[in-house]
Amino acid sequence: MANLTVKLSALTLRNPVMTASGTFGYGLEFEDFVPMSKLGGIIVKGTTLLPREGNDYPRMAETASGMLNCVGLQNKGVRYFADSIYPQIKDMDTNVIVNVSGSSPENYAECAAVIEELERIPAIELNISCPNVKDGGMAFGVTCEGAASVVKAVRKAYSKTLIVKLSPNVTNIADIARVVEAEGADAVSLINTLMGMSIDIERRSSRLSIGTGGLSGPAVKPVAVRMVHQVAHAVKIPVVGLGGIMTAEDAIEFMMVGATAVEVGTANFIDPAVSGKIVEGINRWLDSHKVKDIREIIGVV
Ligand SMILES: Cc1cc2nc3c(=O)[nH]c(=O)nc-3n(C[C@H](O)[C@H](O)[C@H](O)COP(=O)(O)O)c2cc1C
Repeated sequence: MANLTVKLSALTLRNPVMTASGTFGYGLEFEDFVPMSKLGGIIVKGTTLLPREGNDYPRMAETASGMLNCVGLQNKGVRYFADSIYPQIKDMDTNVIVNVSGSSPENYAECAAVIEELERIPAIELNISCPNVKDGGMAFGVTCEGAASVVKAVRKAYSKTLIVKLSPNVTNIADIARVVEAEGADAVSLINTLMGMSIDIERRSSRLSIGTGGLSGPAVKPVAVRMVHQVAHAVKIPVVGLGGIMTAEDAIEFMMVGATAVEVGTANFIDPAVSGKIVEGINRWLDSHKVKDIREIIGVV
């Protein structure tokens, strides 16, 4: 069996496979399907400083080779997470990473500071695809200034491993990655969902309550692979790749363009055991290709 261990800065993963935020709950719902000890890590639901109700229904629509969602970061807030969820997940035998969202640099930082106190959470993933409330609602992650402002504020408040999750809805994702690296991120992950829309022609209206939503699933994979390739050449910090990964071969594709680790998202809705199967598949592929250490394939393309 090949060595599957990889590192995201100070964070060691037993293998490169993690689950993506918003698609794996808090892991608890999946324990019957995948032993957590099989995964490199899990990234739990998006967490904000204050509770959020999310958007009205319908919030999801199936599309060709993918899905649209506009869940809108529904969660009970970081204090509830710390008091009620953390005790249930802190002893899971994997890296439990919290995905942090916000509406101003200050409340991102405050949320991160609460999570810093939780001993068994070794890292956060910062979702910068959130609207900047003070600045007209444009997402932080679509401009260099917006991305820098959030990462700067959070870096001051959070000393453990900081992964920044990039938005693909930009002209040049490499520029955003460079800024995020300069502000002190330990790793970047990409991609978040691509903005999309789908129309029910009989009702003459959008299939989603708020009109638009985020596209995910196999439909986005070639875009994601291209962006991971670009970003891996632009920064020195590790890159985590995701977007449409359904199989071990998909995961290997991301690693070959420079991802040190990967996340599995929408695929969990189709098969809740898929993340474990991807770990097994990577192992089999490495053995059959006589690769002794997974790091040998990172960035070979
Ligand atoms: C229903 C749903 C909820 C999501 N919630 C979050 C979230 O809270 N925070 C976040 O950073 N990304 C969120 N995402 C984005 C995913 O983590 C991932 O970046 C995206 O779906 C692309 O990967 P995939 O094609 O493997 O699903 C969500 C995606 C879906 C489908």
